[in-house]
Amino acid sequence: MSNLSIDGERLLARLRALGELGRGADGKLTRLAASAADKLGRDQFVQWAKALGLDVRVDRIGNIFALWTEATDPKAAPLMLGSHIDTVIDAGIYDGCYGVLAGLEVVETLREAGFTPCRPIVIAAFTNEEGVRYAPDMMGSLVYSGGLAADAALAVKGADGSVLGEELARIGYAGAEEPGFLKPDAYIELHIEQGPVLEREGLAIGAVENLQGISWQRITIEGVANHAGTTPMALRHDAGHAAARIIAFLHERASASPSGTVATVGTIAFEPNAINVIPARATFTVDLRDPNEECLAAEEQALAEYLKQIAQEQGVAISAERLARFAPVTFDAKLVAEIESAADARGLSARAMTSGAGHDAQMIARIAPAAMIFVPSIGGISHNPKEFTPETDLVAGANVLLDVVKRLASPRACGHCRPAPPSSPCCASAASCASAACETPPAA
Ligand code: GLV
Ligand code: MN
Ligand code: MN
Repeated sequence: MSNLSIDGERLLARLRALGELGRGADGKLTRLAASAADKLGRDQFVQWAKALGLDVRVDRIGNIFALWTEATDPKAAPLMLGSHIDTVIDAGIYDGCYGVLAGLEVVETLREAGFTPCRPIVIAAFTNEEGVRYAPDMMGSLVYSGGLAADAALAVKGADGSVLGEELARIGYAGAEEPGFLKPDAYIELHIEQGPVLEREGLAIGAVENLQGISWQRITIEGVANHAGTTPMALRHDAGHAAARIIAFLHERASASPSGTVATVGTIAFEPNAINVIPARATFTVDLRDPNEECLAAEEQALAEYLKQIAQEQGVAISAERLARFAPVTFDAKLVAEIESAADARGLSARAMTSGAGHDAQMIARIAPAAMIFVPSIGGISHNPKEFTPETDLVAGANVLLDVVKRLASPRACGHCRPAPPSSPCCASAASCASAACETPPAA
């Protein structure tokens, strides 16, 4: 049992197969939350989970849970693994899918090896992590952890005018379980780094100890449409120009930030959007992130003041709508140490690190100890079809996940193999310490 490793080829084959679902005629992979393409990915995950004999449940916000309940104590709080299988537009194949499929692989490996966990293990595929179609991002895990009411989330209108609840029903994933129906004992998410740190430092594993705060806003500028040829520059109320000034302000401020603020304007639309008409309206989104809550709040404040200044200078009206706001999160120190020690035991170089991206783990951290394992992203590229992690790194990360799961789901972790646990909540009797799941005999 101590030499147990996952089946790398099996994991990679599933990752590639999932990466083909939702690919358009143009070859681009886009599985936006609750879309027909998302249904294809969900159906595939459910089919694989059922083929392993797992009990598949879906909650009201469409989160899918694949439960392995053959545990010494099937009623104990489960160890939860997972991530998401929705994607951005023109995505890579690893973001989110790697964590979900590695969860399946870990369970399959443990089952084949005859390992009996002391508590159930559940693999979660959370709804709408990306937030591209419906804001906020990490929506399924946010609802699951009680941060947003399910009914409010289901009523959210998407960037394409669709309503999440209707779309989930249409694709057959408006489930019956109440979000939060399983309270995890702990949550571990394996993910690609999506940034340059591990590759730059030549490291195999990141033990994620914290995650930066995220602020999303939609800014709308109302100017005056007028003739591009006849309107003197001094007489314009140009919503497009005002938007450009704000975008430049954000970029310059973030570039000079000592705390590492990052700022992105990823969507913009002008109206009427004609070559010879001064824009009457500009609508764009702002994604601001910083690992420090005070710095993030200061950036939001600076933006709010600049919006007022530009409105006055340009004679335009500017409004801001909040789409998402998440404070930085610190993960569970013991779990981070478990990840570092598991990497070390496999001879894999590792470091503790911060996540630049948002993840479902930051939401589940509200209801259970949580942490993440990162593997390198070549060139730090993600949210791009060029997203790539070498196979050896993918397999190494999944093996670290396997080892952490073995430790957290062993009778010892449930309190059973510690000296004289009088009434372990998880493992019924000392006899099970002799099982393959228990690596060290009880001390008493
Ligand atoms: C999720 O992918 C994010 O935007 O960080
Ligand atoms: Mn992700
Ligand atoms: Mn992503």
